[in-house]
Amino acid sequence: MSSYPFKKAASRLVIGLMIVQFIPLNRVNPPEKVPVRAPEEIADILKKSCFDCHSFRTEWSLPAYIAPLSWAAAARVSWGRNALNFSEWDHADPTASAHRMRAIRRTVIEGIGHQRLYYTLHPQSRMSAAESTMLLNWIDTYDRETAQGI
Ligand code: HEC
Repeated sequence: MSSYPFKKAASRLVIGLMIVQFIPLNRVNPPEKVPVRAPEEIADILKKSCFDCHSFRTEWSLPAYIAPLSWAAAARVSWGRNALNFSEWDHADPTASAHRMRAIRRTVIEGIGHQRLYYTLHPQSRMSAAESTMLLNWIDTYDRETAQGI
């Protein structure tokens, strides 16, 4: 039996993968509108663990440049930005803030389960136990301040 059919299929696959690299992708970071207002140590945690999908400050990693992985990465980021965007933070609406903070609290408690594949591939983006506690404390303060109309 010759290996010819296999080689032919493999070379078609390689050519196909080369061609799809040229499909344009929306991998942009628009300017921030209203960035989240948070103390520096909190902003650092959000940046490390959440900004890649929930802000306009995405650090696109290598797989985000290689199709077909890049399609999955770009889709996840635009889905994440739609769900929650720390670069378009509306400070004015207390109901929206309270709702958003409840959702963030759930996500922080969920830990790496929120985006298991991402946190497995980016262990440096995981929050430590101390960092999640800091984030939960910040949410409590934020809720109190919003209730007081600050
Ligand atoms: C790998 C991308 C990615 C990362 C990193 C990420 N998220 Fe998400 N997040 C998503 C996507 C996609 C959705 C929308 C689908 C869903 O709800 O799972 C989402 C949804 C959410 C929601 C809305 C859920 C709801 O119930 O309305 C919140 C809140 C949230 N994320 C908070 C966070 C926080 C806080 C972090 C950092 C600790 C974080 N996310 C990190 C991708 C990500």
